[in-house]
Amino acid sequence: MSAEVTRCPESENNPRHIAIIMDGNGRWAQRRFMPRAMGHQAGVKAVRAIVEFCAREKIEVLTLFAFSSENWRRPEDEVSLLMNLFISTLQNEVDKLDRNGIRVRFIGDRTAFSELLQGKIAAAEAQTQHNTGLTLVVAANYGGRWDMAQAFRAINAKINKGELESQAVDEKLIDAHLSTAGLPEPDLFIRTGGEQRVSNFLLWQLAYTELYFTPKLWPDFDREEMVAAIDSFKSRQRRFGHTGEQVRNNAAILQL
Ligand code: FPP
Repeated sequence: MSAEVTRCPESENNPRHIAIIMDGNGRWAQRRFMPRAMGHQAGVKAVRAIVEFCAREKIEVLTLFAFSSENWRRPEDEVSLLMNLFISTLQNEVDKLDRNGIRVRFIGDRTAFSELLQGKIAAAEAQTQHNTGLTLVVAANYGGRWDMAQAFRAINAKINKGELESQAVDEKLIDAHLSTAGLPEPDLFIRTGGEQRVSNFLLWQLAYTELYFTPKLWPDFDREEMVAAIDSFKSRQRRFGHTGEQVRNNAAILQL
């Protein structure tokens, strides 16, 4: 890990969980009259820098939207390029992630991936499962609606087997069946590339998340940009349904 951040955020107020939609790789390349593939390669470089930043700043969880369930609609050669990029990135980076105490976890329907990629994913998770530093969650073939549907199916199966009463289904139980079970909810959501929507990302989990949108294209999103996003997060008052006055007078009520 190298290069210091110019303004270092006070880590005690840092978001615990940051979730990012990394948008704009294609436009970054097109603006340089380069093939879109080069944009995705530059995107991997940006991923590396942001993972290093989060590990150093003691962020607990970083979730990256690498491939949505809708991304299969892209031209075949771009999909296959992205798959190869995932394979080579996993191959090249997993030892370094492991050495830095980073735990890797994938969310999404991995059964649609090649056996080779599924194997690399499982191996990366197994190799890093006991690490206690940053948890890097890679959302691949992920959709927020898919996540809820698979959770509801799992709950329904338990009800049908008599392992669960339908009256026991509450928000906590649904949470525990989502692919993000056991992780804190995202505090800060970032989307690069100028669009201002959540696009079927962590739909259930984003209920109280602070949203941050930037026109910067993903390959240009660097440590400085991340500091700006975290500074914006820190300047906001999170009320979780309380009034501003309640929050100012009694910070303890925010311990949900
Ligand atoms: C969106 O940009 C980006 C993607 C669909 C792929 C994101 C993948 C990476 C950054 C690389 C690998 C990541 C990991 C975690 C190994 P876009 O192509 O939609 O850009 P555009 O909106 O400008 O066309």
